[in-house]
Amino acid sequence: MLELYTEQIESCVEKEVYNEALEQAKEAYDVLFSRKGKGGNMTGWLDLPVSIPQNLVADCKQVADRWLGTMDVVVVIGIGGSFLGTKCALEACSHSFASVGERHSPHIVFAGYSISEDYMADLLGYLKKKSYGIIVISKSGTTIEPALAFRILRMNMIERFGEEDTRRRIVAVTDQKSGALREICDKYGYDSFPIPSDVGGRYSVLTAVGLLPIAVAGFDIEALLGGARQIRELLLKKDDSNPAIRYAALRNLMYRSGKRIEVFINYHPKLKYFGEWLKQLFAESEGKEHKGLFPATLDFTTDLHSVGQYIQDGERIMFETAILAGSKEVEVLVPKSTDNLDGLDYLAGRSLEDINRMAEKGTREAHVSGGVPNIYIEMEKIDEWNIGQLFYFFEFSCAVSAYMLGVNPFDQPAVEVYKTNLYRLLGRPGY
Ligand code: PA5
Repeated sequence: MLELYTEQIESCVEKEVYNEALEQAKEAYDVLFSRKGKGGNMTGWLDLPVSIPQNLVADCKQVADRWLGTMDVVVVIGIGGSFLGTKCALEACSHSFASVGERHSPHIVFAGYSISEDYMADLLGYLKKKSYGIIVISKSGTTIEPALAFRILRMNMIERFGEEDTRRRIVAVTDQKSGALREICDKYGYDSFPIPSDVGGRYSVLTAVGLLPIAVAGFDIEALLGGARQIRELLLKKDDSNPAIRYAALRNLMYRSGKRIEVFINYHPKLKYFGEWLKQLFAESEGKEHKGLFPATLDFTTDLHSVGQYIQDGERIMFETAILAGSKEVEVLVPKSTDNLDGLDYLAGRSLEDINRMAEKGTREAHVSGGVPNIYIEMEKIDEWNIGQLFYFFEFSCAVSAYMLGVNPFDQPAVEVYKTNLYRLLGRPGY
């Protein structure tokens, strides 16, 4: 089970103030579970690890089996909450060099998360001699980035494989009843999976939005759900042992004390996209009514050599939340050399994991002494089970945190401003 370590940050706040914040977090917890707070009709994700129908898991695996060996590539189309959870799980659970190694599943590539012409041209070129499938994911079914990518790739597919064959190459994940994507599926007979109406985009990774592409990529979606289920048990307890309540209370205190940025940190390149998923979750859930911590992400030790100076000695506006993970079974030890010209013989026989841990400890001590409080979360290793726990833990913590700020954790009205301008500039009728 993942562990939350808060001793260091707790020492920066008075006990009484912390206790008060814990009580406020529990009130926010009650609002969440009452399902009557702001956006209370969008709390279906709370139950997903236990309520997800078994046949949905089986259906996802069935698409994976059907496409295994028949598709070289599967293009997953989506943006925001319809993209980041899958990208994050795949990056975390894949071999770091999977693209050059032996593959037991189709190569998963992504589209519809930008409007870059170069990217699309490269993708079309890459797909030219490949057998490919499409998983198109959009809850609204109208988001312009994925809609454009789907139109281009679907037309390309029909041209190459014909209407009939295209039908078995496309699976959509969208709203059960409404939206343009739903209409396209109904009209052309594409298979589709529903997104529950009470689950919003950034809370949807444990629906078919994440489960289908993760299964098609060859990963264990039951373990993902199992991990989420296990931590859910712990988070259901409304007491001080609940790590989500403690975390929400502390980050709220950081905000009240003048911190404006929460930096999510990883020490493994595989967790880079977990940071991207977190960024969306917190920014869209909390950043409203001119409130909220700005979520930033950094990769350590890489970024210590680029922004380490600022963290140590720039504006004192941030605190850190580090996500730490043990390594898998394979140890890489520093070998002994014959001449010790690089001066590293003092490390001979030590594992990179051990050295990475020391880097993490040293960095934490340095940043804390420089006025950057630190929280950290430990998981045993990076795999589906633990990623499932992280997903659920942070969704839960984020909803409680947003209610502590008094904002709706489940809407994102301000995103419409850019969309409206874009539509006007593009000449969309009615804008
Ligand atoms: O969290 C959200 O609801 C958003 O970020 C959406 O996931 C994102 O805008 C994509 O929307 P859709 O799935 O409707 O295409």
